[in-house]
Amino acid sequence: MSVLLIAGSPTEHSRSATLLDGVAERLHAAVDDRRLRVERLRIRDLSPQALLLADWGHASVVRAIEQVANARALVIATPVYKAAYSGVLKVFLDLLPQTALKGKAVLPIATGGSPHHMLALDYALRPVLQSLGARHILPGVYASDAQIPKDEAGDYQIGGEIAQRLDDATHTLLQEGLRLSAVPVPRPVPFSQALYSV
Ligand SMILES: Cc1cc2nc3c(=O)[nH]c(=O)nc-3n(C[C@H](O)[C@H](O)[C@H](O)COP(=O)(O)O)c2cc1C
Repeated sequence: MSVLLIAGSPTEHSRSATLLDGVAERLHAAVDDRRLRVERLRIRDLSPQALLLADWGHASVVRAIEQVANARALVIATPVYKAAYSGVLKVFLDLLPQTALKGKAVLPIATGGSPHHMLALDYALRPVLQSLGARHILPGVYASDAQIPKDEAGDYQIGGEIAQRLDDATHTLLQEGLRLSAVPVPRPVPFSQALYSV
């Protein structure tokens, strides 16, 4: 069984993609990789020409559509652009077959410069996911830029409130979207921290 994480920002160093990393981390911690494969798709890595000119036959597009078809659930992250979702995500969704999301669960995620456009997920993205046949669209996660600040090294950090929302959303994805119970994955204990009894 696999879940596909789709990054819908055209930006390389991306806040919305940082939230996807947060979901990936939580999925890896909750479920053994043998029970759930976590795959990724960055729309910005696909051929821009193929996306813009709707070239369904382009190898990168064929592969991406296959990834969607093979996934049991999707997590789709996008920045808010002009009160909606990103254009690159739109051109990719336009290339999907009409029933591409049939039977699949989807967790939508968005980041925006201000909190005012938090409903963009509901009024802009949700209807499109529904039209593609998604079985279960989970409650989305929205974060403003201030909730994902940069640290001193320039890396985005997920603030406490959003971290909690990602915990809840990942839990709901596993339980309701994938019907998987979380079994914490045992992590290797460093030798220096090992406890012995004699
Ligand atoms: C072209 C463009 C349009 C934007 N439009 C909005 C908007 O309408 N509302 C908003 O809250 N933020 C808007 N923003 C800010 C981004 O949504 C925000 O910075 C987001 O976190 C960027 O995500 P990313 O780093 O994953 O690309 C816009 C940014 C750009 C570049």
